[in-house]
Order: sequence, then structure tokens, then C-alpha cells
Amino acid sequence: MKFFLDTANLDELKSALAWGVIDGVTTNPSLIAKEGAPLEDQIRSICNLMDGDVSAPVTAIDREGIIAEARALAKIHRNVVVKIPVTEDGISAVAALSKEGIRTNVTLCFSPAQALLAAKAGAYLVSPFLGRVEDLGGSGVDLISDIATIFLRFGYKTQILAASVRGQGHLIQAAKAGAHIATMPYKLIESLFQHPLTDKGLQQFQEDYSKAFDLVKA
Ligand code: E4P
Repeated sequence: MKFFLDTANLDELKSALAWGVIDGVTTNPSLIAKEGAPLEDQIRSICNLMDGDVSAPVTAIDREGIIAEARALAKIHRNVVVKIPVTEDGISAVAALSKEGIRTNVTLCFSPAQALLAAKAGAYLVSPFLGRVEDLGGSGVDLISDIATIFLRFGYKTQILAASVRGQGHLIQAAKAGAHIATMPYKLIESLFQHPLTDKGLQQFQEDYSKAFDLVKA
């Protein structure tokens, strides 16, 4: 399973890359807006820091505007994947862009039917939002699992990117249900390292080793 960092912040990305387990980055207009730089500049800076897929969002909502923005974003770097919402105009744009060889991430997906539209249009990635679907009483794990079943059934190559992942439970549910990728905020990935028994065990190992070493020296 691939881990993507859900951020547009360069300091977070630099720090996370040191872990050696980050395969890509996702951004969205809200995350880009927090950084204060123009979208294209921020995406270029992210691409220059790492070698992995970087999802860059379009801000247009009409078909021709989406296609024009997507072409410009794809020219920034070979690792750019253009993030497009699953609307009628968005899916129509994805179908056209797929034919041009431009890779897309169909976002704001909340139903298996929307994921099926993304796959049929030739999307490279589709992003079902676990947390947000659960905010409305839905089941994030059922969403991923249904999409995985349908894609397997028909042999669609579109990869499932679990988004809006809010905790370790979501990550494990998404992994078990068949997501190829999970995108997570920095703090969530950082929390994956932590377990009280790891801290306790490490302390015990260090104490035992130090005692033995001190004995040998004496
Ligand atoms: C990633 O592609 C999404 O934009 C992101 O995961 C949304 O997460 P949120 O629902 O916590 O804002």
C-alpha cells in the first residue's frame, strides 16, 4: 500500500520524507490556500522536493476551464496528477484528458457509482473520502470495499486512493478493504510510529543491556 502525505506545506513534506515511507502527495485548494503561494508555484516546489505522484487540483468547474488548467498543471512536472471533481463537467474532462495521456485523480467521490464513472472515464486515481462520508452517517469501509469489488470484477486499472483519512482505524479499514493508496495528514502518519509497548520495551532493552555492559566492565 502506498502512503501519500495530504499537505501543501513544504516543511511538513521535508520532515515526512525523512521517514522514507512517503510515496506521493495530495493537495486540495483549501490546503494550497493555507500556504499563501500561487497554486502552480506551490506544486512546482513540492515536485522539486520528491520523486512521486503529486495531485494538483484544478479550480475551474466548467469542462473547458478544467481541461485548460489540467494541461497547464501537467506541464509543471511529469509527476503531476491532475485532481478533478466528480461532476458531469469533471468526468467529461477526465475522459478527454485520459486520451491525451494526462493522469487524473477524480476527487470528492462519495459513492461507488461515482467511482465507476471515474474508472469508465479512464482516471488514474479515484479518491473516496472516508471521513466526510462518515460525518454524514455513511460507512467509509463499505465505500472502499464496494469500489474495490467493482473494479476487480471489471478489471479497471484505476487505483483507489483513500482520502479524508482521519485516524489509524480508517487506514487499516482502507487497507483491508482494498485501497491501493491512503493519503493522510502529517500528524496521522507521525502517530503510526507510536505505541506504549514499543516505548516500554525499548526502555527495558536499554536498561538490560546497560546493566550487562556495566557488569562486564566491572
Ligand atoms: C485529499 O485528497 C483530500 O483533499 C483530503 O484527504 C480531505 O480530507 P478532509 O476531509 O479531512 O479535509
